[in-house]
Amino acid sequence: MTRMYVWAVANQKGGVGKTTTAVTLGGLLAAAGRRTLLVDLDPQGSMTSYFRFNPDAVEGSLYSLFEAQAEGSVPPDTGQLLLDAGVQNLSLLPASTAMATLDRQLGARDGMGLVVARALARLQHRFDYVLMDCPPMLGVLMVNALAACQQLLVPVQTEFLALKGLERMLRTIQMIGRARGGVPPYTIVPTFFDRRTRASTDALRALRDQYGDHLWPRVIPVDTQFREASKSGLPLPVFNPQARGNEAYGSLLRWLQAQDTPMAEAVSQ
Ligand SMILES: Nc1ncnc2c1ncn2[C@@H]1O[C@H](COP(=O)(O)OP(=O)(O)OP(=O)(O)O)[C@@H](O)[C@H]1O
Ligand SMILES: [Mg+2]
Repeated sequence: MTRMYVWAVANQKGGVGKTTTAVTLGGLLAAAGRRTLLVDLDPQGSMTSYFRFNPDAVEGSLYSLFEAQAEGSVPPDTGQLLLDAGVQNLSLLPASTAMATLDRQLGARDGMGLVVARALARLQHRFDYVLMDCPPMLGVLMVNALAACQQLLVPVQTEFLALKGLERMLRTIQMIGRARGGVPPYTIVPTFFDRRTRASTDALRALRDQYGDHLWPRVIPVDTQFREASKSGLPLPVFNPQARGNEAYGSLLRWLQAQDTPMAEAVSQ
């Protein structure tokens, strides 16, 4: 029986650690022997660039699937679009810069919200986990991610302004949730935590007061090794297994896995 877990990482606010969260969790899963697919849904292609591919020059991306949907033509084989991320068990479905035009060109047509869900369904024998990295804006790509995911991670920087951005993101989740017939389970992940700063501790307290139910009870610390890992093109768990950021993401991973009931089990209960 196949059980593929599909998780999305999203927040409309930029620079909160979305790409880092997807790449680090992906690195941990791959190191644990899970066949893992990272999906870059951000037209800026940060995740694609992370693994040393050029979003201006990739041969194929999700763009071609949206195009096929719009034209009513047969979509290309999604398996053909996958790239080797250079780490055992880790594959990448890259972004291309052309994806920035999707909303304007094709966004409003029928069936556009389920392109990613359908593409992933065709890959479910090949992967154990899929992690999708969303752009910091609401559009057809984020709508697709929220429609396709079983769990949603919302990284939020532990500082006051980021909390405002979180409110906006939560409204988006509710709105899209209504359209897909239910809000996906979501987990708020405090990032860039620095316990020596007042900004971090105050923001964490506010998060606990307001969003306790949906808040992961721990934090991702500030760790300069994340940036070093990105320069090397490797997920942090592969670049430096001893870095403390790994321990935090490892704990997050176990917590998420404990939340997840595979679909087959949920049905038989
Ligand atoms: N916990 C952390 N400690 C220190 N630096 C971090 C941490 N998490 C991420 N970074 C660094 O901060 C920068 C922004 O992180 P990242 O790209 O993951 O954010 P993002 O939310 O994906 O941004 P965008 O909205 O632009 O897509 C990167 O240079 C990354 O290496
Ligand atoms: Mg990003």
